[in-house]
Amino acid sequence: MSRTIPCATTIAEIRATLGQSRDRGATVGLVPTMGALHEGHLSLIRAARAENDVVVVSIFVNPTQFGPNEDLKHYPRDLAGDRALSAEAGADVIFNPPEEEMYPGTFSTWVEVEGLTDGLCGRSRPGHFRGMCTVVTKLFNICQPDRAYFGEKDAQQLAVIARMARNLDMAVQIVPCPTVREPDGLAMSSRNARLAPEQRAQAPALYEALNAARVLVGAGQRSTAVLDRAMRSILAEASLGEIDYLEIVGADDLVPVPTIAGECLIAMAVRFGPVRLIDNIRVQG
Ligand code: PAJ
Repeated sequence: MSRTIPCATTIAEIRATLGQSRDRGATVGLVPTMGALHEGHLSLIRAARAENDVVVVSIFVNPTQFGPNEDLKHYPRDLAGDRALSAEAGADVIFNPPEEEMYPGTFSTWVEVEGLTDGLCGRSRPGHFRGMCTVVTKLFNICQPDRAYFGEKDAQQLAVIARMARNLDMAVQIVPCPTVREPDGLAMSSRNARLAPEQRAQAPALYEALNAARVLVGAGQRSTAVLDRAMRSILAEASLGEIDYLEIVGADDLVPVPTIAGECLIAMAVRFGPVRLIDNIRVQG
């Protein structure tokens, strides 16, 4: 039997719990999530466990980062399961506020990171990063963590949060964690469960395309046009998928590059029906 960990639902409650720990000199690690936890999330919790005295996992399906046609209503929720998995992975406390606690009627303040949010996922998800940055800022202010853990699977999210923390002098270390994958290479995501069997069978094409690009770069290929063509021909095999974007950008500024030079990010989003999958790798020129 796993141990039961406390679950705070109000800002006052989690502040009091973490405040007591901080007064004892304990360091705090925060893992922000929207729940429906899988091995990807759990790897973040384990990383936080290894580096902090107290680990808090926030579980909050943030309505402000979903567009009007996105899957907010269908987003999977399983608090009891998430609480048990978090405990097993080493978390000490859950923060699971109701929507009104985070967004009371008077709410009208937003955090916006310009430039970095224009391309990639920002293009097809207007307002997404504004909502995400706002809730992450609130979680930082509420929990005041020494470190906060984010997955490289959401590469643009990670870049945007790192820029936001730097620009706004937030006293938190942003810790990137590697993408956790299924045995066939598909990046773990709560959205994978919504793929039909034939779509699920084709979904590993994303990582296959990224790996093909990695091999070409390893062999000396530097032209992004050549890499783009090679990846598109692999993605074409996934007949049920429709490419939303496929881009090769500088790892820091997320601006498209004509040739691989320095650290670059190869990132893509592919739609299988209503399910939009993203994946990326980093390559070095
Ligand atoms: P969510 O999609 O629940 O993801 C929570 C964290 O888990 C993010 O940092 C994400 O990058 C990481 N993650 C998801 N799948 C992963 C995988 N396969 N391998 C490694 N890490 C993975 O991202 C969000 O929630 C929200 O935008 C949030 C930051 C919580 C703000 O609302």
